[in-house]
Amino acid sequence: MSSDHLLQWSSNGLRVRMSGTTHLVAHVTPLLPTQKLRKAEVLHSLDDLSKAGAEKVFTSALRPREQQFFADLGFTLHEELFLLAHNFETPIDLPTRPSRRFRRSDWEELLKIDSSAFPQFWQFDGLALAEAISATSKTRIRVDVQDTPAGFAITGRSGRMGFLQRVAVDPRHQRIGIGRSLVADALQWSKKRFVKELLVNTQVSNSNALSLYESMGFIKKYGGLAVLQWTVTS
Ligand SMILES: CC(C)(COP(=O)(O)OP(=O)(O)OC[C@H]1O[C@@H](n2cnc3c(N)ncnc32)[C@H](O)[C@@H]1OP(=O)(O)O)[C@@H](O)C(=O)NCCC(=O)NCCS
Repeated sequence: MSSDHLLQWSSNGLRVRMSGTTHLVAHVTPLLPTQKLRKAEVLHSLDDLSKAGAEKVFTSALRPREQQFFADLGFTLHEELFLLAHNFETPIDLPTRPSRRFRRSDWEELLKIDSSAFPQFWQFDGLALAEAISATSKTRIRVDVQDTPAGFAITGRSGRMGFLQRVAVDPRHQRIGIGRSLVADALQWSKKRFVKELLVNTQVSNSNALSLYESMGFIKKYGGLAVLQWTVTS
């Protein structure tokens, strides 16, 4: 997708992203704790989005308290996610495959891998990829390369909290240990930097990812996440 079709801005405590040629879908991420968000202002932003052509608005993955705030505004459940954490109290694997740093020239290839690995709703466009990379002050992006990139992982940390933001493996190269090796790299990097908990979320229905994370020592946290949706009514 060309960047002409992507729009992003922040207002009223929300980051808003519209993508696609028709801008029918928007994504909102709260930038403040919900106690600091004002319902009237968020409703105003939703009104602006519907005037800009959005027919559906999806939230980012929200914690229970944030879900309540958006539910009170008329949002309904789109999809539930598990939140998992690794607390480094159990041994962690070493990567079994070579990987290298992300290069600017990998950008399009990473977007291609992402699109082929994830169902449409979860696929990254350029803005979402940039957002995942810049979400934390420190970020590690590793690329598993054979002739061309076959998989990648984005891990970030803020203070002593770590976030496994993305892991995707080209379906043509899945089931040969790339995902496990990339997650092992993320764990090693985090541990060396004294991260006390590495968090990751995944769709409740994503049994492959769940089995990968649980087999590597991640444990489900109480009170999962959810993406909510708001449909414009004419
Ligand atoms: C999840 C994903 C990253 C795994 O990558 P991969 O390179 O295929 O994984 P590996 O070969 O390293 O396998 C690691 C483990 O993942 C689990 N797994 C991966 N694919 C699986 C499948 N098709 N069926 C069952 N388990 C699977 C298994 O536990 C596997 O361990 P095992 O081989 O010892 O049984 C890959 O399937 C993918 O990109 N999926 C789409 C994107 C995604 O869901 N990303 C993570 C969610 S945020």
